[in-house]
Amino acid sequence: MTSTRDPHSFAKPDEVVVTHLHLDVTVDFEKQQLGGTATLTLNNKTGSNKLFLDTRDLTIERVTLGKEGPETPSLLGDVVQFLGQALTIDITPQTKEVTIAYHTNPNAAALQWLEPSQTAGGKKPYLFTQSQAILARTWVPCQDGPGVRMTYSARVKTRSDLMAVMSATNPTVKTEDGVYEFSMPQPIPSYLLALAVGDLAFKSTGPRSGVYAEPSMVDKAAWELEDTEKMIEAAESLYGPYRWDRYDVIVLPPSFPFGGMENPRLTFATPTILAGDRSLVSLVAHELAHSWSGNLVTNATWNDFWLNEGFTVYFEHRIMEQVYGRTYAEMLAQLSMQDLQATINDLGSTHPDTHLKLNLGGRDPDEGMTDIAYNKGYFFLRLIEEAVGREKWDAFLKSYFDAFAFKTMTTEGFISYLRENLIRGNKNLEEKIPIDRWVSGPGLPEGAPEVRSGEFGRVEEQLNAWKNGAVAGTLATKDWTTHHWLHFLRNLPSELSPEQMADLDEAFGFSRSGNSEILAAWFPHVIAHSYQPGYTALEKFLMGVGRRKFLKALYTKLAETPEGLERARQIYRKARPGYHSVSYSTIDAILKWEQR
Ligand code: BES
Ligand code: ZN
Repeated sequence: MTSTRDPHSFAKPDEVVVTHLHLDVTVDFEKQQLGGTATLTLNNKTGSNKLFLDTRDLTIERVTLGKEGPETPSLLGDVVQFLGQALTIDITPQTKEVTIAYHTNPNAAALQWLEPSQTAGGKKPYLFTQSQAILARTWVPCQDGPGVRMTYSARVKTRSDLMAVMSATNPTVKTEDGVYEFSMPQPIPSYLLALAVGDLAFKSTGPRSGVYAEPSMVDKAAWELEDTEKMIEAAESLYGPYRWDRYDVIVLPPSFPFGGMENPRLTFATPTILAGDRSLVSLVAHELAHSWSGNLVTNATWNDFWLNEGFTVYFEHRIMEQVYGRTYAEMLAQLSMQDLQATINDLGSTHPDTHLKLNLGGRDPDEGMTDIAYNKGYFFLRLIEEAVGREKWDAFLKSYFDAFAFKTMTTEGFISYLRENLIRGNKNLEEKIPIDRWVSGPGLPEGAPEVRSGEFGRVEEQLNAWKNGAVAGTLATKDWTTHHWLHFLRNLPSELSPEQMADLDEAFGFSRSGNSEILAAWFPHVIAHSYQPGYTALEKFLMGVGRRKFLKALYTKLAETPEGLERARQIYRKARPGYHSVSYSTIDAILKWEQR
């Protein structure tokens, strides 16, 4: 265990650490407010008289010692940008529990309160949370840093026509009275606290897996995610037992700002993964992989974010390879390299945010959550695999997850474990794996793994034929999957005539695609070439989908020209109220949007 100071938390877990949380809250859709009590169980290591917690936009009503003991003085500190306010509570060295009566603010950043019109059913409201990275403190007073772990239990009361689910043991049917009880017996960091409330139904997909979704979507979701059990088995065969009992997925309304979020026992997912052909399920492999990399062995601070995401992308690709084959996984790897190169280009190849180990002190940790952690992290681990061979590498990773299960890890801690257990002073390996250059140096180091997918070679042949004048409709694309199309779209020439745009769209129906990834790869061309027939679909997409990755890329592209910026602002004015705060904070900055 480490005692690194977390630059994004007011807590002092070295002195007093919270070991268990009991949440007793009522979900009030009318007031858009979550209110009740949080009882924290303490381990006072140093006999301290103060407990420091993180809060942001919370109203603290009363703090008592024990469950219903005497009231104790508490103080909310000054507001600090991004971090919120420290809550300082007077305790004694003997205090075992404190109970905080509180309620949230309607614009709590972690919470999105949806109108019925933003759901598939259109009749009932919906609430979901997004706690990562430092938003748990906007709905629960807690020690909100990834270096602190606690178990939790909860009692949630809501309308009796809705179901509540959490990152914990979950119901599969609605209760009569709208009261739900939860428990999470494994210790987790606060960023994995999660709650969703809505008109939900459940459908099983395997012995320990299933999906939650609105009733009209649950069959479609269960069909799409049918391979979940196979993925769990593949993951276990690689890196050891799945330690969280069940693995379920909830398919949320389209305003969910991420593709997926690895909330333990219950991955939160965007409905845009429901492509109808199972082609986007690597997202489930990714979130499932976090059950080891991230949820079991957790980055100590957000500066070590690559330990969560880089390992997870690596593990995701291994699961995909095992379930769907090497050819499939190599397409994913080459797309990862393209993403990485694009991000390094955007940031600049000497930018400190292109280091794996980040320095996010004084900034919103969101700023460090770029493709660097994901894909530079992935290629670093792949480099090690290629240098030592799969057999040794897999044994090492398995022992790493085992040795540090339910603990936190720093970048430095991982490197010394790597040196001690795998490199062991071997000069040849030291040379092949320039650790410092990858971890503390910029850009993509020389000698990075090279990926050449044969399938993408076939795509390039067809692309070249088209560039040389072949009509789109005559290209050999019959057996192409989503990933072939992504490679095709990403590698189209930057200059395209109106006739060429129309030729492509008429032959392949990109603007009509029901696949979010294909649309998101097509729209940049639509924008760059002012291709009018594509704009209706673009506007519909921006109005309907809240996934930040897509919105960020498309609004940025629109903002490149004055006309585009004007169009972006018009769309955004209508779309913004439907986005989650995580997404609109990012887009506000891109469009220089002032609340008006
Ligand atoms: N944990 C992340 C999502 C996240 C990162 C939330 C940082 C808040 C801050 C999740 O595992 C993730 O990486 N999601 C990706 C999908 C994945 C397939 C790369 C996403 O949402 O795009
Ligand atoms: Zn992830």
